[in-house]
Amino acid sequence: MGTLYRVAKRYETPYSDPIRLARGARVTILPRTSEWPGWVWGRGDDGKTGWVPDAYLRREGEEAFLTRDYDATELSVEAGDTIRPLGELAGWVWGTDDRGKTGWVPKDHLEIDPPRGKEGPMSEEVFRSPKKHGRIMVLLSGRGSNFTAIADAAAAGKINAEIALVFSNKEDAPGLAAARGRGLPTMSLSPKAFADKAAYDRAILREVEARGIDLICLAGYMKVLTPEFCAACKNRILNIHPALLPSFPGLNVQQQAIDWGVRYSGCTVHFVSAEVDMGAIVLQAVVPVLQNDTAETLAARILVEEHKIYPEAARLYFEGRLEIRGRRVTIL
Ligand code: GRF
Repeated sequence: MGTLYRVAKRYETPYSDPIRLARGARVTILPRTSEWPGWVWGRGDDGKTGWVPDAYLRREGEEAFLTRDYDATELSVEAGDTIRPLGELAGWVWGTDDRGKTGWVPKDHLEIDPPRGKEGPMSEEVFRSPKKHGRIMVLLSGRGSNFTAIADAAAAGKINAEIALVFSNKEDAPGLAAARGRGLPTMSLSPKAFADKAAYDRAILREVEARGIDLICLAGYMKVLTPEFCAACKNRILNIHPALLPSFPGLNVQQQAIDWGVRYSGCTVHFVSAEVDMGAIVLQAVVPVLQNDTAETLAARILVEEHKIYPEAARLYFEGRLEIRGRRVTIL
């Protein structure tokens, strides 16, 4: 699922040795004659210079620090190439080309593939969520407050489903302890015990199949699922993200929303596809960003709404009321 782009106009990157910086790295912002709104020209602490997204920077006086890992690789592309987008920021698309290389491409060189109006999204397959008493598997890595909100709603009969398994990649996740306290089935597997991510996700998939799971709810699960897992469980995985997607995908998004200066942020429940945080949107809730907000105060305001819309999305799912066409979800 997800829109593909076709390259309409050739783009050749002038940068052969891009900066790649880890979260926390210092960036010195340098003067620049050309302007890209939303981007700054900077020198990383590896000594290399390049464009850095403003939204990834936390400024402290004259200094700036990265709030997430950043890779400035750009792709040189030919007209007709296909780009599978993984994210989008300030006029640029982060995506994978036909050869499997990943990098930034300027969005004004791309068009939607297929162009709208020809074989548009309406011709894509239609999925309707099942109307049944469902079995939910929750995947979490931490606190588990969204898990608790879903479990409470299910226990109160507001969702026509039961929590069939709470799974974590971290044995000591507080959310797992909360699930045990409720007498729910739990399981944790350490990724270190597996050869690679694919083998790890295959082990999770075996549980999904063995336990007859209908819906997987990611609730603060900090691992990216493999494309194979996403395909095997297509239309059966939901996630909650603490921002109004497609703005601010990824991590530390409350700080990014503050740094960007948006007046409103919120949360999004969406179906999970291989493109992180880019699956079809089910529900969103909006909260104001206040002048004196910190990442913590904004996160707390957003979390209140998360606990409302995530159980609501699961309720709609098992009432058979979510219909997906292309990347649009209709609530029936
Ligand atoms: C929430 O902010 C959620 O939006 C994000 O991870 C956090 C999980 O919190 N995906 P919790 O573990 O559910 O309390």
